[in-house]
Amino acid sequence: MKIKLKSLTKLFLMGLTLIAYSASVGNAQRKTDGVQNITQSFAEDVHSYSNPKEVRVRHVDLDWMVLFDKKILQGTATLTVERAANAQNAPLILDTRDLKIEKIEASVNGKKFTRTEFQLGAVDKILGAPLTIQLPRNAKSVRISYSTSPTASGLQWLEPSQTAGKKRSFMFSQAQAIHARSFIPLQDSPQVRVTYLAHVQTPQNLLAVMSAEGNLQTSARGGDYRFKMPHAIPPYLIAIAVGDLEFRSLGKRTGVYTEPSMIEKAAFELTDTEKMVEATEKIYGAYRWDRYDLLVLPPSFPFGGMENPMLTFATPTILAGDKSLVSLVAHELAHSWSGNLVTNATWRDFWLNEGFTTYLERRIIEAVYGKPRREMEATLGRNSLEEEMASMATRDQILHVDLKGRDPDEGFTGVPYEKGALFLRYLEETFGREKFDKFVRGYFDSHAFQSITTADFVDYLNKNLIAANPQTARRVSVEDWIYQPGLPVNAPQPASDAFVKVEAQAKNYASEKIAPNRIQTRAWTTQEWLHFLKSLPENLSAKQMSELDRAFNLTDRGNSEIAFQWLIMSIKNNYSAAFPRLEEFLTSIGRRKFVRPLFAELAKTPEGTKRAASIYTKARSGYHPITQASVDEILKWQTR
Ligand code: BES
Ligand code: ZN
Repeated sequence: MKIKLKSLTKLFLMGLTLIAYSASVGNAQRKTDGVQNITQSFAEDVHSYSNPKEVRVRHVDLDWMVLFDKKILQGTATLTVERAANAQNAPLILDTRDLKIEKIEASVNGKKFTRTEFQLGAVDKILGAPLTIQLPRNAKSVRISYSTSPTASGLQWLEPSQTAGKKRSFMFSQAQAIHARSFIPLQDSPQVRVTYLAHVQTPQNLLAVMSAEGNLQTSARGGDYRFKMPHAIPPYLIAIAVGDLEFRSLGKRTGVYTEPSMIEKAAFELTDTEKMVEATEKIYGAYRWDRYDLLVLPPSFPFGGMENPMLTFATPTILAGDKSLVSLVAHELAHSWSGNLVTNATWRDFWLNEGFTTYLERRIIEAVYGKPRREMEATLGRNSLEEEMASMATRDQILHVDLKGRDPDEGFTGVPYEKGALFLRYLEETFGREKFDKFVRGYFDSHAFQSITTADFVDYLNKNLIAANPQTARRVSVEDWIYQPGLPVNAPQPASDAFVKVEAQAKNYASEKIAPNRIQTRAWTTQEWLHFLKSLPENLSAKQMSELDRAFNLTDRGNSEIAFQWLIMSIKNNYSAAFPRLEEFLTSIGRRKFVRPLFAELAKTPEGTKRAASIYTKARSGYHPITQASVDEILKWQTR
């Protein structure tokens, strides 16, 4: 009896609190009439159907079942929305691609969800289909029940045979640039930042990880996981992976996830991660994302790395065994400032993400491994940019590239990366490191958690670096760097003593002055090997190819970058002894940067085209949809 009374009192008190709470919420809502002012300005984004100026999404609440047998995600996405005062009748327009929408409900002021009307528009090959949702007045929340397609462009479902362990299935997402819409209906523009929560259910013995807080270090949760991203991020940074994963700590806030059979190798390769975070903080200010972990994926991961916040996704092809390819970690880590903290507003501003990041990456490399290493990598970068630009349409050589009517993937060239980085290095050299570092740090602080356009950057640059140093600034033509094709004449020329020596030896070998065994390769780093191979003439004789191979064992190199470079040369020079290795490489690695140029090189001759077709028939099903799309185009592949 006593207990009952007590709980009744408690209930009564709780009721009072609730009444008081809803009264205060009610007041606030009446004051604004359910309308928040949308103060952010939005740029034109030709890659999104959404209408954030009228209605914008602030938060996404995901509830997913990961269904491996059907290769789909099934569940709900509940979006918290805001509507502009002058857009009271505007619908909510979302981006989608190949989603099956089951029903959509809206809730007004936290009340019960009720069904609302929607239309799925015509499908565009690049953009997908707009989803137009009628919003009742004062609707705050919209719940979409849906499932993804088994061929969703942003997900890859791996059979156990495609993993290292060969026993369990694996699934991962890759949302950049416009693939988030293939697994979440949302406003898929990088200027519409959202926080997110997720509840994910998987088969018992698999671990789910996301680009958020809540990643566990074992799969003991029995397939029931919860995540939270408290910072507003662009949709392309929402990421999930599910598989047989193990975790290994690397430092106080760093660690690595990968399949158990790879954990040892991955932990060794990535030992410098914590050091890199510290080095970056010293130059650019505090790391603002709590933990920095990496996930090393199965070999079909289509990119080298992807800067998913708190959890970089990486290709296993960086595991060279000697830490020689860890500039990729520096790169993805640098995105925690340039890209994730300060984000390109649209894909034409992509160079703001990648140019800054490539510049920062090299600064991190300098801080952790020294200047000679930085100069080698910067030289490789500049050389590959010039080579690529030589056969590139002028409109694509512009940092502020026009991507109207095109897939944003077409902007994924060396230009935003290397020309962008050279521009920033040019500013560093012109104004001096001290002033430039202060400027960049101020840029990150003043635009933290915002998405900005190239014009916003130019404006900030003019006010904070150029206007403050008028004498020096007269030499700088921002216009040429950002809006003109090619490289300005005064573009920085990185210089490496080690590379000068490598070049001399390559030249002597090519002109038959020295035999292969006289080349001083003993202390060469991966970067020197790469530069050596690239410094050789394009056409080598059969004798030269085989004597190089015999002397340096090039066909059997495990280092993915060296192997790739050698295989390209082998195709060009029809060196058939390397063809079995070529087939093995292409059927075991799905990283687009390697796969695409190799098929493109093969496709240059009728014989190569035949070889390509025979290899692709075996390899295609193992590739990610993004890699498949690239190779399909090169080989004019008809999907049967
Ligand atoms: N954010 C990119 C990857 C990306 C860009 C994916 C555009 C989809 C669309 C990532 O940071 C990146 O640049 N990765 C590079 C490696 C880096 C060391 C240059 C890659 O994957 O090759
Ligand atoms: Zn990048």
